[in-house]
Amino acid sequence: MRKRGCVYLDYQATTPVDPRVVEAMQPYFFDFFGNAASRQHAFGREAEQAVETAREQIAALINARPEEIIFTSGATESNNLALQGLMQYFPEKHVVTSAVEHPSVLACCQYLHMQGHGVTYVPPDAQGRIAPHAVAAAMTPETGLVSVMYANHEVGTINPVALIAQVARARQVAFHTDATQAVGKISVDVQRDHIDLMSFSAHKLYGPKGMGALFVRRGDPELRLAPLLHGGGHEQGLRSGTLNVAGIVGFGLACEICAQEMDSEAQRLRGLRDELAQRIIAAVPQVTINGHPNERLPGNLNISFAHVDAEALMMALTDVAVSSGAACASLGQKASTVLTAMGLSERQIKGSIRFGIGRFSSSDDIQYVARRVIEAVAVLREQSPLWRLEQDRS
Ligand SMILES: Cc1ncc(COP(=O)(O)O)c(C=O)c1O
Repeated sequence: MRKRGCVYLDYQATTPVDPRVVEAMQPYFFDFFGNAASRQHAFGREAEQAVETAREQIAALINARPEEIIFTSGATESNNLALQGLMQYFPEKHVVTSAVEHPSVLACCQYLHMQGHGVTYVPPDAQGRIAPHAVAAAMTPETGLVSVMYANHEVGTINPVALIAQVARARQVAFHTDATQAVGKISVDVQRDHIDLMSFSAHKLYGPKGMGALFVRRGDPELRLAPLLHGGGHEQGLRSGTLNVAGIVGFGLACEICAQEMDSEAQRLRGLRDELAQRIIAAVPQVTINGHPNERLPGNLNISFAHVDAEALMMALTDVAVSSGAACASLGQKASTVLTAMGLSERQIKGSIRFGIGRFSSSDDIQYVARRVIEAVAVLREQSPLWRLEQDRS
């Protein structure tokens, strides 16, 4: 997909809204604009009906029940609601999380720490995976919550979530997962995976921005959460505020489309991702692929180029949109916490680029980007005294 002359390969940062989703949302801005809480009249009842249909579509994608879906403004809010909401009822308790979480979990854990909670950050292995036995070792009798992401936003590594969740459940500790990068891309099943709380976001799966959900398991034993927002008591008292009906309708259809197309789409994306990797590896010496070789998201490719500065490479790739890390980390220009935790050297981290491939990426895009990357790396290395020195020596 080219927009404004640029090939977009940053699908882990966000996705364009699928035109089918835009079309489904449109009537809810003007014709069916009612407040979903206004049950007294048809406008409100139509809006409420649309919200409940979307709740069913979203629940179906993750094998949950509709009443287990709480609408939020995005995964950042869902993560905060899960972590803060639960820990408010356990003032003395400890949290186990991982060192490679998204900032919306890491910063929330820092906040919980300031509130007096103990927090342990489990390190990943060299491929970015969190081992269930490492989570078990980090737990104490005081642990009240385990939160480990489903798939990583930078390197795409998929965690053995069902096994980690079982470790928590065996000790009657709640398990939360930030599944923002996984839902809609790979099979996520809250029953099979023993998940108690799960965050995800519409804009990562071809729905609108500003829409997210928290799955809250209902059943025995009951999970109690304190709301972050107080008000009219919407969303079972967990998230007050007038519902974003158009956004919810879009989120619902986006999930339904993912459910229908995910398997064939994942296969197509793996093909494109492997083609991109192979073209680059065949033409560029000294590159390493970061993350797990197999247990990874279909559309993610994170590569370190030796003797190349990722910022300089991105500047050279004027007509290609890629990322040198998570979008939020890019804002702060900090070294990637994910790659640092995985034990990469400073040089490898500085030379790493994330390519995010998605629904509107074509084989032409991949061939074009591979060519541009190969050319740009060659030019940058020619300008690198260290690279030239290494070449002269060999
Ligand atoms: C793993 C992960 N968690 C949470 C978020 C935050 O999502 P949102 O933008 O919906 O708040 C992101 C977005 O980059 C993410 O990749």
